[in-house]
Order: sequence, then structure tokens, then C-alpha cells
Amino acid sequence: MTAGTAPLPSVPPPSVPLLSVRDVTMTFPGRRGGRSAPVRAVDGVSFDLAAGKTLGLVGESGCGKSTTGRMIVRLLEPTTGSITYDGRDISRLGRRELKPLRKDLQMVFQDPHSSLNPRQTVARIIADPLLVQGMAAAGARKRAAELMEMTGLIPEHIDRYPHEFSGGQAQRIGIARALATGPRLIVADEPVSALDVSVQAQIVNLMERLQRELGLAYLFIAHDLSVVKRVCNRVAVMYLGRIVEVGDKERVYAAPAHPYTQALLSAVPLPDPVAERARERITLLGDPPSPAAPPSGCTFHPRCPKAQEICRTEAPLLRVAAPGEAREVACHFAAADNP
Ligand SMILES: Nc1ncnc2c1ncn2[C@@H]1O[C@H](COP(=O)(O)OP(=O)(O)O)[C@@H](O)[C@H]1O
Ligand code: SF4
Ligand SMILES: [Mg+2]
Repeated sequence: MTAGTAPLPSVPPPSVPLLSVRDVTMTFPGRRGGRSAPVRAVDGVSFDLAAGKTLGLVGESGCGKSTTGRMIVRLLEPTTGSITYDGRDISRLGRRELKPLRKDLQMVFQDPHSSLNPRQTVARIIADPLLVQGMAAAGARKRAAELMEMTGLIPEHIDRYPHEFSGGQAQRIGIARALATGPRLIVADEPVSALDVSVQAQIVNLMERLQRELGLAYLFIAHDLSVVKRVCNRVAVMYLGRIVEVGDKERVYAAPAHPYTQALLSAVPLPDPVAERARERITLLGDPPSPAAPPSGCTFHPRCPKAQEICRTEAPLLRVAAPGEAREVACHFAAADNP
């Protein structure tokens, strides 16, 4: 049984979630004409996201974050499992049925410059999703100018090309494009990872303001826990295609229960220099294994400082670690650390 087939959280969400992901997997065929092993990039992932809220999705490079995000906006079809958006299972919809949904589900990418067509003007880039949905050219251009203003760009720059903008400004263009059709859910795939630290804060501020004004829900993907701390309400930590810990931000950051979350958090610098000098860093051995050949049992066991014999043979289920807690953990020994 995979971690994703674990029971659902015992604490029900306050209302029907905007997005429900249940036991979703994605298996890519082996490269080199199928001669190499297939890659189980996402392996039984389940989570909910409420309207207007942010779920942070965190984990090292290659753990399946982008694949998860791409399935949610249905750029990819999951191999198995279901994705329910606004009460409707969208996981198997075909291209034509997806078209009206594209208005609601949008994506912001990591590298703004490479995700914007260098040969198109900003007007065209931002207006394109509107033209696809059938809006007339003049109206789409007017809306593009409004979106530039809304995202802190100068509308007079509407006929410029992406290379004429800085990285932060280019990401604002990417956000404006994502907003064009009035989405309710945005998958932001490492939206600030490619930007200078000072610019990162500006983009995070912008995304927070837009969320408040427009009631957007975000799946906010990042490779470290520091980036999502401010923006998320809940956080999910992924390792090798599975969620190993998920719960309310306050709980996960204050008392991480999974050894992998503990290691990730120990790498985040503390603002207080005394606390920073005093605390212990947990260094993980080696790189994450390939999802084409995952380790047996708990796939984290070769790198886990707390691994015991059982960890080599039995995969831990994602389950509530302490009664009544709005947080789930996939570790045989999670409860022992958090009585
Ligand atoms: N189109 C693809 N074909 C084959 N393997 C892929 C493809 N896309 C991603 N992968 C593999 O799936 C795993 C997860 O990738 P990804 O979702 O991009 O991770 P992350 O975004 O967390 O870095 C990686 O091992 C990656 O090499
Ligand atoms: S189940 Fe074992 S190997 Fe896996 S995280 Fe927990 S202690 Fe570590
Ligand atoms: Mg990625």
C-alpha cells in the first residue's frame, strides 16, 4: 500500500475544499525507448486546498513537486487517482472539456524569462489566454493594460518585449498572464526561486495582495521551507514522490514530526543570532535516490538519522501523529518524538 492510501485526516476541513487531490500517481515511461525503468514521479499524493488559501509544497529537486502542480492544472493527466476541482472530477477530462476550466486554473513558472515567449510583446503575452477564450483583440489589449497596472508594471510598456524587463518585472508579467482569465486557483511553481532575494520579497508581497483582493487559492511550490513560511496556511513536505508530512503551518514549523522535515527546517537560518549559533544542523547524507529505483520500506531510510530495522521493509503510512491534530506524518517513529 502506498502512503497516499492512508485514511483521510480525522479533522475535517471547515467547508468543501476548492481542490481535492486523492491518491494521485504519475508514472513516466522509461527513457531510451522504454528500455530504462519507468519513473514513478508522484506516488499516491492526497491533499485538500480551500478557496482563498495557500498550501505550500516543499521538497528537494526531483521529488515530484512540478509534476504534481502540472497534474492539478491538467497540463498532465495523472496515471491514477482523482483531482476534484469545485466538486467535479477533472482528472480524466479531454482537451475540449478542459478548455473552459483553463480560465480557473492557472500556473506561474519558475524562470520568468524562459516561460515568456521572447518574440511576443507583453500585450500579446498577457492577452493570449483571453484571445484563446474568445475575447476580441481590443478588449483583450485593454484588459492586459489593466493587469499590468494591477501587478505593478507600467501600462505604457505594453508593447515592449520580455528581454526589456528585469527578472522581477518579468515575473510580474507571468503573474499578470496567469490572472488574465480571472482564475480561482494558481499553481505557483517556485515563482521566486530564480530571483534575487530582495526581489523575492516584492513578488511574495504582490502575490499576497492579489490573494486578498481576488480571493485566489495558491499551491505555492518551493524547494525550501523558508520561502513558503510567510505565504502558506498549510504546508506539505514531499520526498521521492510522496507527502511525508502535511499540516497547519504553525504546527509543522514549531514542531516538525518527520525526520526529513526536521532536516529541511534545520537548514533554515533563524533570525535570532544567539538561537542560530546554538541550534543543531541536521545534515542529510547523499542525494535523494532516483524515483526509478526507490529504496525499500520507508524510501527515506538510507538518509534518515533515526532509521531502524523496520524502516527497511515497511513503508510508513501518512497518518495523524497525535489525536485531534491537524497534521499527518509518514514515519514509524513520528509519535515518539511528539508525545
Ligand atoms: N516528462 C518526464 N519524463 C520522464 N521523467 C520525468 C518527466 N518529468 C519529470 N520527470 C522525473 O520525475 C521526477 C520528478 O520531477 P519533478 O516533478 O520535475 O520534480 P521537482 O519539481 O520536485 O524538482 C524526476 O525524477 C524527474 O526526472
Ligand atoms: S520511518 Fe524510519 S526511515 Fe522513515 S523517516 Fe521514520 S524513522 Fe526515518
Ligand atoms: Mg520543479
